[in-house]
Order: sequence, then C-alpha cells, then structure tokens
Amino acid sequence: MHLAGKKIVFAVTGSIAAYKTPQLVRLLIKAGADVKVITTAAAEDFVSPLALATVSKHPVAGNISDGAAWNNHVEMGLWADAMIVAPCSANTLAKLANGLCDNLVCAVYLSARCPVFIAPAMDEDMWLHASTRQNLQKVRTYGNQIIPVAHGELASGLIGEGRMAEPEDIVKYLDHFFSDNNKPLKGTKALVTAGPTYERLDPVRFIGNFSSGKMGIAIAEALANKGAQVTLVLGPSHLQTYHANVTTVKVESAAEMYKACMDIFAQVQVAVLAAAVADYRPEEIADEKIKKANETFEIKLAKTTDILASLGKIKQAGQLLIGFALETTNELDNAKKKLQAKNADMIVLNSLRDEGAGFGHDTNKITLIDAAGEKSLPLQSKGEAAEAIVNHILELRHAEKTA
Ligand code: CTP
Repeated sequence: MHLAGKKIVFAVTGSIAAYKTPQLVRLLIKAGADVKVITTAAAEDFVSPLALATVSKHPVAGNISDGAAWNNHVEMGLWADAMIVAPCSANTLAKLANGLCDNLVCAVYLSARCPVFIAPAMDEDMWLHASTRQNLQKVRTYGNQIIPVAHGELASGLIGEGRMAEPEDIVKYLDHFFSDNNKPLKGTKALVTAGPTYERLDPVRFIGNFSSGKMGIAIAEALANKGAQVTLVLGPSHLQTYHANVTTVKVESAAEMYKACMDIFAQVQVAVLAAAVADYRPEEIADEKIKKANETFEIKLAKTTDILASLGKIKQAGQLLIGFALETTNELDNAKKKLQAKNADMIVLNSLRDEGAGFGHDTNKITLIDAAGEKSLPLQSKGEAAEAIVNHILELRHAEKTA
C-alpha cells in the first residue's frame, strides 16, 4: 500500500453515489491515509456529515465560513498530498473546468497544489453531453486525473455509463498513482530550458521573442510527474510551476542560460532544451539610455553560444539530449540537420505553419525526430504534447539500456 501517511482532502458533491463515500473514507483510512472531508450543500442531501465525520475522525466542513469561523481553504489545499472529488457531479465538474468559486469545494480545489483526482458520477445522458465531454477535457489539461466511470445500473434505472467507480477501485487507482512502479523516472535528474531570452541593448531596452515558456514548463512538469528531479532554467516569463519536484533557476539572457545549463548538465541524465534562445545579442550594451538622434539607427549583433550544440559536444553515454526546432520552411529537412549538427538524441519539430502551434498557444502540433525516424502527432494541448515527448524519452532510454 502506498497511501500510508498520505494526507487527503476528500470532497463529496451532490450525486446519489455519495452514499458510498463513508465506505470509501473507511478504505482510505484502512490504507493508512489521513482524510479530511469537505462537502457541497447538495452532497448533504445524499450522505450525512455525521457519518463522514465519524469515519474520518475529523469534523466535516461544508461552507467557506461557519458563522464566525472561517474554513481556511488555502491551508487545506496546502495540507493535502492529494485531493479527491468523489462523486463529482456534472455541476461541480463544470465549475472546476471553468474556475468558479462559489463554495468550499471549489475554493479548496483552486488552492490545492497537490494532484487532484476526479471520480465523476452522473446519468449516461449527462455523461455523454457535449458540454460534459468538453469539461472533462478541460480539467484533464489542468493536470487533474479522471478516475474512469463504470458501466452499470444508474440512479435513473437505466443501464449505461456514468456510475462512479467502486470505492475499492478508487483506492486502487490512488494506490497505483502513488506507487513507485508508476514513476519510471524516479532517481533521474533532468534539465529543462524554457521561455524566451532578453538581450539588453541599454538599461531600458532589449531584443526578445514571443515565447511564453508554456511548452517547456509543461515538459518539466511531465518529467516531474514521472518521478524525475527537474531543474527548470527559465527565461523571462510570467509563468511558473509549483511542482514539488521542479526547482526553477531564473535567467534573462542567452549567456546566463548557457552558464546555468553548463553548471548542471554533468549531473543530469536527461536535458530538454525547449527555450527560444536568441541567436544574436547586441554586441555592446550601452551604459546609458540610447538617445534618439539620426533617422536610422544600426545595431551590431554578435552570435550567442548555441547551448544545445555545446551540450551535444560534451554529452556522455547515458545522457539524453533533446532539442527543439522551430521552422517555417523545409521543416523536416532542417530539423533532421539540427539533430545531426547538434548531436541531439531527439528533435521536437514545431512548424509555425500549423494552426494552433507555436508561441503563446495552449496547443501544439509536433513531430518527434530521432535517429530511427520521425513521428507526427496530432494537434493537442501542450500538456499532452509534453506527455508524448516524455513517453518518447522513456522509449529512447529503454532502447539505450537494452542495446
Ligand atoms: N538553441 C540553443 N542555443 C541557442 C540557439 C538555439 O540551445 N543559442 C536551441 C534551442 O533551445 C532549440 C534548438 O537549439 O532546442 C533549435 O533552435 P532553433 O531556433 O530552431 O534553431 P537554430 O539552431 O537557432 O537555427 P535557425 O535559427 O537558423 O533555425
């Protein structure tokens, strides 16, 4: 059992399946977890808070405030190693998908920094409705885990899909999630670069690019979810990650990013360079703000050091080096050349010609290129694309080990 000592916030929402939750709480406690239950008002129509308080051995909270006392949702979100929403009604799912915050369950969900598991429960027609499909897709892209629904008798009397998974299956799902078998990168150290770089011209101006850092951050999180200890070298980006296994090193310029990467590369087994690094920087940085004078103004640029190529030169056996290629013409050929020239093990190709791909979008369309060939993937969320990249890294590692 891998749930021993785990702190779990257990949110119950309004569905008939709520009658099974005291049993689920009992099973979690038997597995060694510490469980605090919160409820929506509708949940309390289906299951008694007294029953849940008795089995969990903690008071049950149902409101953001109880009279003069405030239930600290932030504290609860920080306390938890896992949050479970079971059963998750269609209504709560819609709220979680859209960031609504009109009750304690939503407030704790928005404050939680831990993995969130959602066990939906609803009638089949609601389950199959296009809006429910969309809401499920949305919460998945936030990194939440959906515990699959079961097929069987529903509250309506119909037989179909939408039953909450059985308490035993939910416990199994969680146990598997927390087991080491599910963490193939445990013990692996990884380096990820992300975001743009800013190259200073003078104290108030820089040359930069439109990279948001989203793709690189998603890769850092996907590696961390599989157990890797990740150092994220992040250029100027307003995004960040709170993943417990990711340490962020903030840098500004290509030179700073180069230095940070060189400092840690020898200690990592996997490096993914997703940053949009400036190829050129102003040759000189003016000490004072450059004044407006002539009609035209020329800036002399000098090449930056190619980080990927530099790491490729010092790469040792047992290290995997992954680069990106952002191309607008001759995409595949150019990307294959980069694989060779920079001594990378894989290049992730982005084409700016693909709609929904590239800078700032939440989606990406990538092609994975390695020595064995290439694999084009469909347009997907950056989280899903990151998963696919990490799965391919696992395949490359496996191939290397068995070679
Ligand atoms: N890269 C790097 N250091 C640089 C420039 C690029 O590490 N100074 C890395 C990027 O992080 C990416 C890969 O090299 O993983 C390819 O970047 P890209 O801009 O597509 O290619 P370039 O080598 O810069 O070539 P070009 O701009 O001519 O396409």
